[in-house]
Amino acid sequence: MGTFTKILFASVCVAFLAVKWTAPSFNAESLRGARVLVTGASTGIGEQMAYHYARFGAQIVITARREKVLQQVADKCLSLGAQKALYVAADMASESDADNAVDFALEKLGGLDYLVLNHIGPTPFSMWDGDVEHTKWLMKVNFFSYIQMAWKALPSLEQNKGSLVVVSSLLGRMQTPFVAPYASTKFALNGFFGSLQHELVMKKSNVSISICTLGLIDTESAMDKVRGITDVPAYPATDTALNIIMTGATRQPELFYPWFTYYVSLSKDLFPYISNYIIQNSYSRIP
Ligand SMILES: NC(=O)c1ccc[n+]([C@@H]2O[C@H](COP(=O)([O-])OP(=O)(O)OC[C@H]3O[C@@H](n4cnc5c(N)ncnc54)[C@H](OP(=O)(O)O)[C@@H]3O)[C@@H](O)[C@H]2O)c1
Ligand SMILES: *[C@@H]1O[C@H](CO)[C@@H](O)[C@H](O)[C@H]1NC(C)=O
Repeated sequence: MGTFTKILFASVCVAFLAVKWTAPSFNAESLRGARVLVTGASTGIGEQMAYHYARFGAQIVITARREKVLQQVADKCLSLGAQKALYVAADMASESDADNAVDFALEKLGGLDYLVLNHIGPTPFSMWDGDVEHTKWLMKVNFFSYIQMAWKALPSLEQNKGSLVVVSSLLGRMQTPFVAPYASTKFALNGFFGSLQHELVMKKSNVSISICTLGLIDTESAMDKVRGITDVPAYPATDTALNIIMTGATRQPELFYPWFTYYVSLSKDLFPYISNYIIQNSYSRIP
């Protein structure tokens, strides 16, 4: 082994151990009675997060557009052990609905310890066809509602030493084809909340922000899009949900799930030619 390789190897080991030692350990008890608002919780990762919070004995408010489905999820949360499980229907393309959802949670729970922003509007998995209106609408749902709700919840989170959890994507850190409107909303989230993260630390705020970078997760909506087009491995929504919750509860600034998403996003900058080649050749057809 050359000197350089040795030094590189040693620094990687030190960095790895440093991360292992300094990462605070998750205490499930800390979530008992915690007041949580989860958005996009009628299905997918949001629904699984609601169930995990319920098992930990939290008090939760869930939101999405479909009231009937929310009611079923809330009922299941109660049966799993949630201290409270309430729902409020909201369309996040509407500013007043986004406001109402936060107001509802603040009022019914008497404050918030966690705001988990997770919802996304449906978007096609296909080549960009010039639909600017769709992109504007998606920006409202996936981005503007996030900053609006975060701002509205911030005073209560500040009082309660709370946490803001933003569910983002690998596609908010690297560009891949067929997802231009979606990727733009996720890049916007990473830009905005990354900047806010600095500001909160600099002003010694009580609030932590966790930005979650997810790879492909096996939710119905994601699987319907990529089935037969790519064989990138999909990871389970329930494990994803638990990892997001633990990241928020331990106040870590970032989550990469599955773990290799971190290296994928690095390799895009370190080896752009190889990375682009792999990306452009990892689809069996153009959707
Ligand atoms: N699945 C993946 O492969 C993957 C990968 C990377 C990142 N992520 C991120 O993980 C999060 C969850 O993804 P998912 O796959 O679980 O999504 P999903 O299954 O499609 O669920 C989306 C949720 O958002 C709600 N929603 C849709 N439009 C809405 C609107 N206009 N207003 C309010 N709520 C709305 C949906 O409920 P209603 O229809 O009832 O409104 C549903 O509860 C997202 O932030 C996504 O970007 C997912
Ligand atoms: C931060 O939390 C402490 C209690 O832990 C509280 O006294 C203080 O007022 C909070 N700061 C703000 C700005 O709310």
